[in-house]
Amino acid sequence: MSKKNAIVICGGGSTYTPGIVLMLLKERDRFPIKSIMLYDNLAERQEPIAQACEILVRERAPEVAFGYTTDPETAFTGVDFALAHIRVGLYAMREKDEKIPLKYGVLGQETCGPGGIAYGMRSIGGVLEILDYMEKYSPDAWMLNYSNPAAIVAEACRVLRPNSKIINICDMPVDLMEKMADMCGVDVHGLQYSYYGLNHFGWWSKVYDKDGNDLMPEIKRHMAKNGFADGIVHEEGKEQHIDESWVHTYEKARDVWAVDPETIPNTYLKYYLFPDYVVETSNPEYTRTNEVMDGREKQVFSAAREMIAKGTAEDCGFEADEHATYIVDLACALAENTMERFLLIVPNEGCIENFDPTAMVEVPCIVGRNGYEKICQGKIPQFQKGMMEEQVAVEKLVVEAWIEGSYQKLWQAITLSKTVPSAKVAKLILDDLIEANKGYWPELH
Ligand code: NAD
Ligand code: G6P
Ligand code: MN
Repeated sequence: MSKKNAIVICGGGSTYTPGIVLMLLKERDRFPIKSIMLYDNLAERQEPIAQACEILVRERAPEVAFGYTTDPETAFTGVDFALAHIRVGLYAMREKDEKIPLKYGVLGQETCGPGGIAYGMRSIGGVLEILDYMEKYSPDAWMLNYSNPAAIVAEACRVLRPNSKIINICDMPVDLMEKMADMCGVDVHGLQYSYYGLNHFGWWSKVYDKDGNDLMPEIKRHMAKNGFADGIVHEEGKEQHIDESWVHTYEKARDVWAVDPETIPNTYLKYYLFPDYVVETSNPEYTRTNEVMDGREKQVFSAAREMIAKGTAEDCGFEADEHATYIVDLACALAENTMERFLLIVPNEGCIENFDPTAMVEVPCIVGRNGYEKICQGKIPQFQKGMMEEQVAVEKLVVEAWIEGSYQKLWQAITLSKTVPSAKVAKLILDDLIEANKGYWPELH
């Protein structure tokens, strides 16, 4: 009989918490759990989500202990896994990350360009804080982190907590592989693939089905016509990204793919390869954050309130989408030694032969009880190497700026971002961001 796991979800008030709780309950045959604890540093944000999840767990899995807290010791004592999805500064700050660069004609995005850099400067301290709590109260636990911007957070952990049991992971490649599998009419499970890049900045170079059949020709046919849009699943509750802006991103992948038709790109490359298009099609008054606040946030919190008012989870408005699946899959791989393949954000150390060994790269890994083993990706082409070198320098400069409190390095980071036209514009944006992030960023000098 497998061991039963104790889970803490960090960022209990996140819009993704209900989906993860649902998925943990659904999958408990293969990933047995004894307890779920929610932890957040903002009680009023967490309260409705936690109360609704409490009803849900009580009705569907009474044998699973459930609790919620803002006290780190209560949260992190006796846990096997910490699943982390915090957002330092909440949507109010995400909105500023998006809108400030747009004032200067530069794209505003959660994890890319100046907005992603600003978020990184807030997120590093928050993730280190929960990692330290976990290590203090449960030194053997694993942290599975998907708090963004994952690339910058991962680099900060590499430098500042090199021995910590933290694995950084993103759901975008999972979502895109489901779409590729769907285009080809095969099951996503057992897909074999080669992929190299940074987080939100990578390419598939090979994709085979579980029997080793090459899927690239079929995927390329779809990419040439509609990008990833052909892989969108129109079944209720199946698709994580249904909003119109996401559908455009999937379609735009056709143009992103055309820049290098030998590989299949991550959708996030649109921000680096077509920044002018992104700015032209953005509304500086109404950005993705506004869409999320009017959509997912309202939906999740009103579903929670409804459950609390009714006192039952019978017609539960929560959904477990694929975002939740991969986190449970990863925890399960570590707990049950499944030796499955995952795309993880890990130190390069030669995995991409002709690339900085100290970079945090996104590559396929085999995961089991003793952690992960990288699958060597060999040499990558000049085009991707050039783009990645520029972007990894941005990410490293942000982490150095955070550690040293260096204005100069942060200015260099923003200047170097492919999304920013000049050092002059970078400085204007930086000075605005400093003002907006008072109390969140370290003092810069
Ligand atoms: P959200 O604002 O709804 O939730 C974040 C929660 O974190 C809030 O309740 C907030 O109070 C809490 N929080 C902030 N700082 C904290 C701290 N120091 N300690 C404890 N709790 C803290 O955000 P969301 O839209 O649900 O997204 C949550 C996070 O997940 C974001 O970072 C988002 O970018 C990330 N995310 C990552 C992926 C991925 O692919 N890696 C996918 C989806 C979401
Ligand atoms: C994808 C990315 C995440 C990102 C999310 C944003 O899933 O992999 O890293 O946080 O999209 O989605 P949102 O709906 O909040 O704009
Ligand atoms: Mn991601």
